[in-house]
Amino acid sequence: MPIRLNEREYMSADQSLVSREDLIEVACAASENAIAHHSNFHVGAALEDADGTVHFGCNIESDSFGLTICAERVALTKALSEGARKFTRIAIIGHSKGEDKFATADTALGPCGACRQFLWEHCGDIEVIGGTDEGKIGKVWMLSELLPDAFTSLHNDMGN
Ligand code: THU
Repeated sequence: MPIRLNEREYMSADQSLVSREDLIEVACAASENAIAHHSNFHVGAALEDADGTVHFGCNIESDSFGLTICAERVALTKALSEGARKFTRIAIIGHSKGEDKFATADTALGPCGACRQFLWEHCGDIEVIGGTDEGKIGKVWMLSELLPDAFTSLHNDMGN
């Protein structure tokens, strides 16, 4: 049974009240809804916007494989479709369900290449919090560290 999560529950008037740990916690909750019957790798992402609302997503796999959508892009497209345009941070976690495999800080989950590009175009240089599969903070980067010298279209008004 999927769990029902509500973006509004994760809204904070003072965004400093939302800690990195809180974002990781939301990402963990979101990963519970992953549709990952091919890889068994359940990913959750929690994307904070400039108003303090936390948007979240999980990976949705397709039998075609190629049409699979990552948790980060699900969170971002949900947020954009609701009118959010400015973002501050994203937390990501992933774990193989039912397996006793624990990541260390060295294996903190970072976004895939496609998601780095998509995040860059729509969020700019946000903070990226890579969780371990135990649901702890593994590494913290700025997106520009993960995607140096990124391609940006002349039509992009993000100012990147
Ligand atoms: N996946 C994500 O959701 N985000 C990433 O950044 C890396 C990969 C998903 C895609 C696929 O469903 C599963 O993880 C295994 O690659």
